[in-house]
Amino acid sequence: MTIGATSVTADQLDVLMSHSNALQGANRFKLGLFGLNVDNACAITTIDGVFHPTWNNVKRLTRMADAAGFEALVPVARWRGFGGVTNFNGACYETFTWAAGVGGATERAAVFATSHVPTIHPIVAAKQATTIDHITGGRFALNVVCGWFEPELEMFGATIMEHDERYAYATEWLEVMKQLWTAEEEFDYSGRYFRIRRGFHQPKPIQRPFPPIMNAGGSGVGRHFAAKYCDMIFIHIKGQDMETARKDVDEVRLLARKEYGREIQVWANCYCVIGDTDADALKFREWYVREKGDWQAVDNLVRIMGLQSGVLPKEQLEGAKYHFIAGWGGYPLVGSPARVADDINKLASVGLDGALLSWPRYEEGLTRFIDEVMPLIQQAGLRHPASTKEAQRTTQRV
Ligand SMILES: Cc1cc2nc3c(=O)[nH]c(=O)nc-3n(C[C@H](O)[C@H](O)[C@H](O)COP(=O)(O)O)c2cc1C
Repeated sequence: MTIGATSVTADQLDVLMSHSNALQGANRFKLGLFGLNVDNACAITTIDGVFHPTWNNVKRLTRMADAAGFEALVPVARWRGFGGVTNFNGACYETFTWAAGVGGATERAAVFATSHVPTIHPIVAAKQATTIDHITGGRFALNVVCGWFEPELEMFGATIMEHDERYAYATEWLEVMKQLWTAEEEFDYSGRYFRIRRGFHQPKPIQRPFPPIMNAGGSGVGRHFAAKYCDMIFIHIKGQDMETARKDVDEVRLLARKEYGREIQVWANCYCVIGDTDADALKFREWYVREKGDWQAVDNLVRIMGLQSGVLPKEQLEGAKYHFIAGWGGYPLVGSPARVADDINKLASVGLDGALLSWPRYEEGLTRFIDEVMPLIQQAGLRHPASTKEAQRTTQRV
């Protein structure tokens, strides 16, 4: 890891890192919640029971997950919706203030903010992050995103940067953040995008040298960014192909290790549909996607992503839309509790460190997951029961 201009070895990191963050905990396979700050969370559907961002809902669900031992609570950085009858994600909470509130309401899980780097100056972001790290006693983590949804960035009066330049900007942004978090003396920074004069930041975060950083870059340049500067990266699992997933996990770990001398956690984003039987779960998914999906919203989404027909073959595009509606294009964990637990076992066996989860009917799904799936993955040895102190002990470095 590089702190300012100084390279820090893994041993030094062990000493430097605080031991308060659940992301460093002992569970072999870690779990997080995704999207509990945006309307509908991750399912682009008109069914009843989807998540709506009221503060009572946020508090109830994040506390439920926290008590069950989930390690990560990750919000989505969003500023406007995708249209359609749901205006998917249109109503949303800002993520630093969300993290401060969730941090006050919970006790153990890592609480993330997701920051679109072009929307906030790093001096402000570093200060907010440090404040939340103090509020939470060292449980803050930061998801760094560059922004791809043009209409939301246009609201800021900014032109969206060309893809690779977004990461060049994010690199400087993060360098400034890290210097603020670590420099004991005032510093100057002169880059292409930022000029800092006598940079100063006190107090320092509780987590030393700074809170864990996550990134979900999928492109070549995104992966290098994550491997070089971040502590957690996401891979996208294509189809049901576990061998490809294993190669992908190995590849990204090796990239971080060989090119940058760093160890990183590798996670996946999954959506979860639990039924009494596999057939029930599949039937329910088919209904909430095909019959009740907000197809206008997903059409808008894929067009903005540049995936419209003509770019992707028709069949592939339809498949992508289906999984976007089902759960933001995540890896499907669909079936009976035993099937879902078995699939999580497979994810762990290809070397993944954890998964972010969401459910179409969030509260109902999370409740079933805690009651019916968690015991199975504990029995499988992937996790300790949440009540065991050992489960919260921090032995592994992020
Ligand atoms: C788990 C996960 C969370 C993400 N969160 C956000 C987000 O909150 N806001 C956002 O604009 N993009 C988000 N993204 C998109 C990524 O930041 C990134 O743009 C995308 O994965 C494409 O990678 P690339 O930028 O390397 O092409 C997320 C992606 C994943 C997989």
